[in-house]
Amino acid sequence: MHQFKYRDNKLFCESVDLDRIAAEHGTPCYVYSANTIRENYSRLSDSLAGVNARICYAMKANSNLAVLRLFSSLGAAFDLVSGGEIRRVAAAGGNIGTSVFAGVGKRVEEIELALRNGIFSIHVESEAELHRIDRVAGGLGRKAPVAVRVNPDVDAGTHAKITTGKSENKFGVPFDSALDIYRTAAGLENIEIRGVQIHIGSQITRVDPFVAAVGKMHPLVEELKKRYGIGYFSIGGGLGIAYEHALASGDPAWWDKEDGGGSLLTPERYGEAVVPLLKDLDLEVLLEPGRFMVGNAGVLLTRVEHVKHGAGRNFVIVDGAMNDLLRPAMYDAYHEIVPVAEAREGDSVNADVVGPICESGDCFARQRTLPQLAEGDLLAVLSAGAYGFVMAGRYNTRAMPAEVLVDGDKVAEVTARETFERIIANERIPDFL
Ligand code: LLP
Repeated sequence: MHQFKYRDNKLFCESVDLDRIAAEHGTPCYVYSANTIRENYSRLSDSLAGVNARICYAMKANSNLAVLRLFSSLGAAFDLVSGGEIRRVAAAGGNIGTSVFAGVGKRVEEIELALRNGIFSIHVESEAELHRIDRVAGGLGRKAPVAVRVNPDVDAGTHAKITTGKSENKFGVPFDSALDIYRTAAGLENIEIRGVQIHIGSQITRVDPFVAAVGKMHPLVEELKKRYGIGYFSIGGGLGIAYEHALASGDPAWWDKEDGGGSLLTPERYGEAVVPLLKDLDLEVLLEPGRFMVGNAGVLLTRVEHVKHGAGRNFVIVDGAMNDLLRPAMYDAYHEIVPVAEAREGDSVNADVVGPICESGDCFARQRTLPQLAEGDLLAVLSAGAYGFVMAGRYNTRAMPAEVLVDGDKVAEVTARETFERIIANERIPDFL
């Protein structure tokens, strides 16, 4: 469910007309719905009511300070993957003491920063890293709280670039050597064993892979509890969202009727499937959802520059591009695209929606049926709240887009559009030229 809906033939975010946002903040521009985020958060936490759950929002999905403040006010902890993310949470007033620090290649300075900020737990990805954490903690005269990320070797059935729980992926320690690494950890002076962690991939739209992974881990988790008194099991993130029916999925009735006979993942179905497997462990359950929390809570607003009729193909050229939203170019990801002015019944065109960058991959959608469009029309690229702005760049010396947060009828620009001066601020022309 989300709060992007047509009202009086205009697309609204909550109580605010997206036309107005484009006029006031320019395009391309990300727009987020605070109430959609709140609802996603409470649905997921309600669905886990049967266990003692802690939601660590995977802030890599959307790390805007205002978004972090919103999560913090909801009581969320955070899943952090860099020193930069630790600093962001601190800047937003979030609680690092309840948060976890993950990532396959944590630098010494980042481990120090995490420990100095009183991180709840560090998720260890290898034996080499375990020894590094031990040394760093020793140097600071502290004990490092850790959990080992175990790779359960299950297939999440998702895109190859975002699957993480297979043995060929670079993540975690192999399932069969997990007990050995815990034994090593128990022998290290500056390490405190706190939990165990898995994460099998992203954009998972069925419960089965989660069930398979948690089921496979269950005996190991019990054993770790017995041997080392672990206090938590983090089952990672990865809950998928409805990209293909993004607009329709805002309506609760759609979920009742249209989602393939009830097979698409919802937080309720996720909770129903995993809670029974976790209950008897009697451990705190950590979750690290990113996309589910923010994906459907954001759109990228973009304006049509030209409509071009090529040889046998139509192109809608918009002012947003792959530098603003990389997912279609990088993963062939599908994002639904809708006009801000609701289309009237009538003529439609089949077109590619493309950006102005000089690459064929700079394409948001291929062969889409769209209403007749003209220069100046506004489009909303849906489900862009996760892995959108955070993956944006400045290719072609294009400025980083603006970000706007809507909360009911309130609107705030939470990231200003980048200026040219800021883009070149760190560059220097040396004297010898
Ligand atoms: N925990 C760990 C250890 C992770 O590596 C990730 C995501 C998450 C949690 C959050 O996963 P989520 O709930 O968002 O699926 N850029 C890609 C997605 C990369 C996900 C990386 N890891 C995309 O745009 O689809």
